[in-house]
Amino acid sequence: MKYAVITGTSKGLGASIAKLLMEASYHVIGLARSQNDELKQLSTHGSYQHYQTDLSDLKATEATFNQIIHSLQDKELESLVLVQNAAVVTPIEQVGKQNNDQIIDHVHINLASPMIVTNIWLDAWRNTTFPLILVNVTSGAANRSVYGWNAYGSTKAALDRYTKTVALEQEELETENKVFLFDPSIMDTDMQGEIRSADKSQFIDVEKFKAYKTENNLRDTSKVAKVLVDRLLNPTLVKNGEYLSVKDII
Ligand SMILES: NC(=O)c1ccc[n+]([C@@H]2O[C@H](COP(=O)([O-])OP(=O)(O)OC[C@H]3O[C@@H](n4cnc5c(N)ncnc54)[C@H](OP(=O)(O)O)[C@@H]3O)[C@@H](O)[C@H]2O)c1
Repeated sequence: MKYAVITGTSKGLGASIAKLLMEASYHVIGLARSQNDELKQLSTHGSYQHYQTDLSDLKATEATFNQIIHSLQDKELESLVLVQNAAVVTPIEQVGKQNNDQIIDHVHINLASPMIVTNIWLDAWRNTTFPLILVNVTSGAANRSVYGWNAYGSTKAALDRYTKTVALEQEELETENKVFLFDPSIMDTDMQGEIRSADKSQFIDVEKFKAYKTENNLRDTSKVAKVLVDRLLNPTLVKNGEYLSVKDII
C-alpha cells in the first residue's frame, strides 16, 4: 500500500496535495490544528486520516509522529512519502517590534518541527526495502531579504540548507532515499490573505501583494499541487537534493 504523511492539510497547498495523492490511491495521513472534513468525505481509491496537532509544540509533534510511525509499521508498505508543508508567515513585522512568543512559535513550526520529524523518520525507516521520499516546502523568500519577513525568510533559508545537507548525507550513505525542496511560488491561500492584511509599516511591499490578488496573479493550489504530485508519482524523476520550483514547470 502507498502512504503519504503531509503536514498542514487543513487548507491551502497541503489540502490540495492530499486530495491529488488520494485520487492516485495513496492513503494520506494529514496533520494540522484544524480538521479537514472535506478530505475525510472524498470518495477515492485512497483514504484520509487526520491527526490534530500543533506543530509549535515540539513534544506533541514528536509524540504524534511516533504514533503515526507505530501505526504504519503494521502495514505492507510499497511507497512512503513525507511532505512537510505546514508553515506560518507571522510575525510580519520589523525587528524591534515583535512578540517573542510569536518568534518562538514561528521557528518551531517552520524549522524545528521539520528537523525533529526528519530525524525521527529517517531513524524509524532505516531498514525499508524501498527508497523514502521526503519533501520540504520552501519559498522564494529563502533567497532574498524582504522588509518585515525577517523570520519567514530566515526559517525558509535554514530549511533549504538543512534539506540539502540531509540529501548530501543520504547520498553519502547510499540509501537511495530522496530528499528535496518544493517551491510553490505565490498561491491564492489564507497565507496570502495574512500577508495582504499587514500594515505598510510592518510590510513595505503590501501594495504589490494586494495587486497580485486583484490582478489574478496568485496560482490555484490544485495546479501547484499537481506539479509536485506528478513528480511524486514518478519517483525516478525525483533527484535527491533538487530544488523543484513550480515556476520552472508552469
Ligand atoms: N501561499 C503562498 O503564496 C506561498 C508562497 C511560497 C511558499 N509557500 C509555502 O507553502 C506552504 C503552504 O502554504 P499555504 O499558503 O498553503 O498556507 P496556509 O493556507 O496558511 O496553510 C498552512 C497550513 O499549515 C498548517 N499549520 C500552520 N500552523 C500550524 C501549527 N502550529 N500546527 C499544525 N499545522 C499548522 C495550517 O493548519 P492549521 O491552521 O489548521 O493548524 C494549514 O493547514 C508553506 O510552507 C508556505 O510557506 C506559500
